[in-house]
Amino acid sequence: ENAPVFTRRTVPAANRIPAAQRSQRMRQPGFGRVLTEHMVTIRWSADLGWHDARLDPYQDLRLDPASVGLHHGQIVFEGLKAYSQPDGGVGVFRPDLASERLRRSARRLAMPELPESLFLAAITELVGADRDWVPATVGSSLYLRPVLLATESDLGLRPAREYLFLLIAFVTDNFFPGEVSPLTVWVSGDYVRAAPGGTGEAKTPGNYAGSLLPAQEAKARGCDQVVWLDAVERRWIEELGGMNLFFVYGPPDSPRLITPPLGGTILPGVTRDALITLARGSGYAVDEQPLSITEWRSAAEDGSMAETFACGTAAVVAPVGTVRSTEGEWQVGGGVSGPVTLGLRRALVDIQHGLSPDHHGWVFPV
Ligand code: COI
Repeated sequence: ENAPVFTRRTVPAANRIPAAQRSQRMRQPGFGRVLTEHMVTIRWSADLGWHDARLDPYQDLRLDPASVGLHHGQIVFEGLKAYSQPDGGVGVFRPDLASERLRRSARRLAMPELPESLFLAAITELVGADRDWVPATVGSSLYLRPVLLATESDLGLRPAREYLFLLIAFVTDNFFPGEVSPLTVWVSGDYVRAAPGGTGEAKTPGNYAGSLLPAQEAKARGCDQVVWLDAVERRWIEELGGMNLFFVYGPPDSPRLITPPLGGTILPGVTRDALITLARGSGYAVDEQPLSITEWRSAAEDGSMAETFACGTAAVVAPVGTVRSTEGEWQVGGGVSGPVTLGLRRALVDIQHGLSPDHHGWVFPV
């Protein structure tokens, strides 16, 4: 494919946010509040295909109020991070996988698939324009948020014929405050995240919107996140909030990890995939196999399961210390962060920040 041509309009130097103010804003950024100064848009129409690739100053969108995406939820998104590297450059973690997943999500929602070359070019454009916003500190990063949205105004229930791809970025440090302190989680008995044949493996906003009420109920019970069980038997552990889960058995020097298999209802996490590779590379056994809620409890209580952790792009790796359900409460690993969790977290963060060798070609320089 030909290299895409972007129309570039950047914020004039005199109007850019001054360095001192930028550093101030970057200090406690939260998640999704400290946006950068530019954005990328690319349009798709049935007539023209992908066209009108632009880098612009961050600005409001103009959308027809009858846009299909707003009404019928024909929207997919992604999340990936850019990290400052020791050589002064910027590395983006596994944009090829994010691009592939965006295409798969798009296919599930009957949307056009953005070619990887355009996806990567969009990232290069935005990170290039906003590279002053890539934090220098380890543990902080620039979160890139691609979104594909149906913009055609025609509310017949059918796939739209016009779409907008959008890429924005924001500074982030820790998704959870006090990040490596273990989470308390609530096993949702009333709600399910995804059913077989549904949209659970697509990264589409409805999956996240549907998690908010259960998350509120978890909060009301003093928990940080919801554990999702499968829709059919309400027995098999699927995910945690918007993150994948790993269970660690055995001694810390030769652990065995279990993570639920991707069966169509689970989001195929990029961090999940990286951790499976890193764990196997450390000589750990990793099995993608179902684990029931009763097995979780009994293994945690008899001590054969030493640790549980959640992972995702936003949170990276987060230990789970306490589990609550209508059946009662139990702790994993005495409720504290375990060595396998912290070791894998460190190994991953070091690769992302270029502090240890990238043997798998995961870090894409921009
Ligand atoms: C992630 O980036 O890990 C996500 O799952 C996105 C979520 C925070 C909305």
